[in-house]
Amino acid sequence: MAARHQTSPPERPYQPFPDVARRNFMQRHVEIPLMTRALGLPRGGRVLEIGCGRGVGLGALSAALRPSLLVGLDVDAALLAEARRRLALERVPARIELGDARALPFGDASFDLVIDFGTCYHIAGASAALRQIVRVLAPGGLFVSETVSSQLLSHPWRTRGRRLPWGSAPELSVVRRGILWKARRRGAGYPWDGQLPVPDGEMPHAARNDLRVRS
Ligand SMILES: C[S@@+](CC[C@H](N)C(=O)[O-])C[C@H]1O[C@@H](n2cnc3c(N)ncnc32)[C@H](O)[C@@H]1O
Repeated sequence: MAARHQTSPPERPYQPFPDVARRNFMQRHVEIPLMTRALGLPRGGRVLEIGCGRGVGLGALSAALRPSLLVGLDVDAALLAEARRRLALERVPARIELGDARALPFGDASFDLVIDFGTCYHIAGASAALRQIVRVLAPGGLFVSETVSSQLLSHPWRTRGRRLPWGSAPELSVVRRGILWKARRRGAGYPWDGQLPVPDGEMPHAARNDLRVRS
């Protein structure tokens, strides 16, 4: 009975997802172009994809966002080797980093935009990952994640009962909703509050300094 009334997901360890060509195609050619437009995501910032896996989304993010810096992070070295091959083949200017979303190997305020296509829903300790995302976001930066509906559509069985623990990241407030995604901004009190995060497709907070990777 107690389990039925549980409000937070059980801490199940991460289970890998299969490589599905049709899903990869949809992510590159449909999901990412649609998401960036639906949310009005700004171009030109420092962008981190959490759980980039085989790097399928990085080329599309590069094309859509024209970032000044694009980094893909994943905990799985074998997937990252595939990602590196893919990026070289497609000539995508992105960096690949091995690391855990719950202990991000980047300095504070290193990114203007952090994107997660579902990884945080499926790892144990998602609170720690959200805390890290807040830390590496510059003030005013955006965190884009899939909604529960989006996850339920993609992975109905695995997503049952899974929610992101937003209470552990009170600095993030929803600023844009776009069909299956939400954009949350770190911090409040910015002049463009309640509007598009950044007018004219530029990020005022993007100091174009090099990424500080923690050793
Ligand atoms: C749902 S897949 C997403 C893969 C890719 N972004 C995509 O959309 O096809 C989740 C990814 O998160 C990675 N992952 C799992 N646990 C992680 C962790 N603790 N930190 C970082 N990445 C993790 C997995 O290796 C996998 O590549």
